[in-house]
Amino acid sequence: MKIINQLILGDNLEILKKLESESIDLIYLDPPFFSNRNYEVIWGDAGEVRSFQDRWSGGMDHYIAWLKERVEQMHRILKPTGSIFLHCDWHANAYIRVEILDKIFGMNNFVNEIIWKRTTTHNDAKQGAKHFGRVNDTIFFYSKETKKYKYYSQFERYTSEYIAASYNKQDPDGRRFKASDLSAAKPGGDTSYDFHGTKPPKGRYWAYSKENMEQFEREGSIYYSDSGKPYLKHYLDEMPGNSVDDLWFNCVYKNKGERIGYPTQKPEALLERILKCASKEGDVVLDPFCGGGTTIAVADKLNRQWIGIDQSVQAVKVTEFRLNQQQDLFSKPFILQLHKYDYDTLRFKNAFEFEAWIVQQYGGTSNSKQRNDFGLDGKTTNNTPIQVKRSDNIGRNVIDNFLSAVQRSDKKLFEKNIAEGKPIGYIIAFTFGKGAIQEVARLKNHENIIIQLVTVEEIVPIAKKPTLTVEVQPLSTDKKGIHEIHFIATGNSPAGVEFFSWDFDYKEPAFKAEILLDKKGEQTWKFKPGQHSIAVKVIDNDGLENIEVIKLKVNGNVERN
Ligand SMILES: C[S@@+](CC[C@H](N)C(=O)[O-])C[C@H]1O[C@@H](n2cnc3c(N)ncnc32)[C@H](O)[C@@H]1O
Repeated sequence: MKIINQLILGDNLEILKKLESESIDLIYLDPPFFSNRNYEVIWGDAGEVRSFQDRWSGGMDHYIAWLKERVEQMHRILKPTGSIFLHCDWHANAYIRVEILDKIFGMNNFVNEIIWKRTTTHNDAKQGAKHFGRVNDTIFFYSKETKKYKYYSQFERYTSEYIAASYNKQDPDGRRFKASDLSAAKPGGDTSYDFHGTKPPKGRYWAYSKENMEQFEREGSIYYSDSGKPYLKHYLDEMPGNSVDDLWFNCVYKNKGERIGYPTQKPEALLERILKCASKEGDVVLDPFCGGGTTIAVADKLNRQWIGIDQSVQAVKVTEFRLNQQQDLFSKPFILQLHKYDYDTLRFKNAFEFEAWIVQQYGGTSNSKQRNDFGLDGKTTNNTPIQVKRSDNIGRNVIDNFLSAVQRSDKKLFEKNIAEGKPIGYIIAFTFGKGAIQEVARLKNHENIIIQLVTVEEIVPIAKKPTLTVEVQPLSTDKKGIHEIHFIATGNSPAGVEFFSWDFDYKEPAFKAEILLDKKGEQTWKFKPGQHSIAVKVIDNDGLENIEVIKLKVNGNVERN
C-alpha cells in the first residue's frame, strides 16, 4: 500500500521540489505574515527562527521573493483540476496577489478573494490606535486551470433571525415552513382557472398548471391564508441554507478545547469549508506551512489524503499528537519524516522491514524472496550483494558466512569484482566488533577480497531518544475524595528538550494528549478515587521522543505503582 499521508519536517521549498508534478488536488497555505515582529515567531525552535530570519532579512521585496519561489513549486505540483487557497492579511495581501498569484497562476485563474473575519474585537482602539480594528484576513482562491478546477457549492445555516422572520409558519407537527406566492405576472397557458374557489389576484395568473396545483394539494404542500388564498409551502428542513459567498463570518473555533494554545492556529471550521468546496474524498490535500496541523486534522477527518510540511519540530510533533487524538484503529496510517531516526526504534524494528528499508536507503534493491537468498538481503545497482544485520558488535563469524554466501550466490560476479578491485559485498549493521574488522582487513591485505562494512549511521542520521523522569506531588483531597496532583517532568537530550505532552487517561498504546504543548513540563490535574494511568511524552529538538507511564492509585492518599 502506498502511504500518501505524510508529515514532513523541513523547509518546504526543498520538499516541494521533490514532489511529483501534477500530483496534488488542493493546497492551503498559511505562511507567516510579513511583519518584523516577534509575535510571528510561534514555536521558537531552531527551525522556525531560521525561517523567520530567512524571509524577513530584506523587507517586502525579500519576503515576496521568498514566498514566490515556493508558490512556483506549488503551481507545478497542482493537478490541472486543482486549486490553491493562500491565506494572508493586510501586511502583504496586495503584493501577494499582484506579484505572486497573478504572475504565477494568471489573472484569469483568480476565483475569489475571501474575507475571513478572524476576530470580533480588537483592542487597538482602546489603546488609542488611529485606525479601525483590523479583524479580517484575506484568503486568495486561484485555480490551476479555469475550466477544469473542482468546485462544490457550500451552504450555511440560516440565522435564527432569518428563520423567525421568513419560516414563520408551522404544520401541526411543528414542521416550519415559508409560504410563497402562487400567482405570477405573466400568463403561461390556461392559468386563470378557479382553484378550490379562488381565482388568481386581479391582473395576475396562477404560476402553475391546474394539474400541478392539484398535485401540490395532494402532497399537502399548499397553505391557505385566513382569506382562503393558496400559498406554496417551502419547508425549512428541506432547504440547504444560504449559499456561501466570499464574506466568511462564521468560521470560528467550535469550543475552547479546539485551541491548542498558539496565536496563529486556524479554526477547523475554516478548513472544513475550504476542503469541502474544492476537494472530494480520496483527493490529496497539501499544507506546506502546516503549523499545529489544522488542515491535516480536518483532511484526515474528511477522508482526504494529505501531506503536511513544517520547518518547526514543535509544529510537526504537535500535528502528529493532534492526529493521534482523533484517530482510531480504522484510521489510515501516516509517515512522520524527521531529520533523524531514533536508534531504539530502528534497532528493534521488525527484521524484514528494517532490512528492506535500510537497503533502499543505501540505494540498493532489497531481496524480496526472503528464502534461498543465501542469507543475503539485497544488492547494489551492479548486483553486488548486501547483507543486513540489525544488531551491534557484529562478529567474525558473520564475515565468514557472508564470504561463502557471496561465492555461492554468483561466483562469476564474485571473481569479477575481485579482478576489478571492487567490493565483493557490503554488510550493514549498527556496529562491528574487533574480530569482524580484523578479518575484513586480513581478507583485503592477503586475499585481495574487499568486504565493505557500513554502519547504519553512515546511511541515515540516527540519535538516541531523550530521557525522561516524572515526579508526582500529591497536593490535596476534597470531600468527595478528588485528589489534586502536581507533576513535574524533567527531560534530557543532547539536542535540547522542546516540549512535553500529557495524557491523563492513558489507554495503551493510544496516546491521546489532553495537553498537547507544554513547554515547562509541569501540570496539575484532578483525579477521582481509583486506578489511573498517566502518560507523559518528552520531545527533543530532533523530534525524537520518550514516554513515561505513571500508574497511580488514588484512595484518600496517592500510591504510585
Ligand atoms: C501561520 S503558521 C500556520 C498555522 C496553521 N495554519 C495552523 O492552523 O496551525 C505558519 C507556519 O509556517 C511554518 N514555516 C515558516 N517557514 C517555513 C518554511 N520555510 N518551511 C516550512 N514551514 C515553515 C512555521 O513554523 C509555522 O508553523
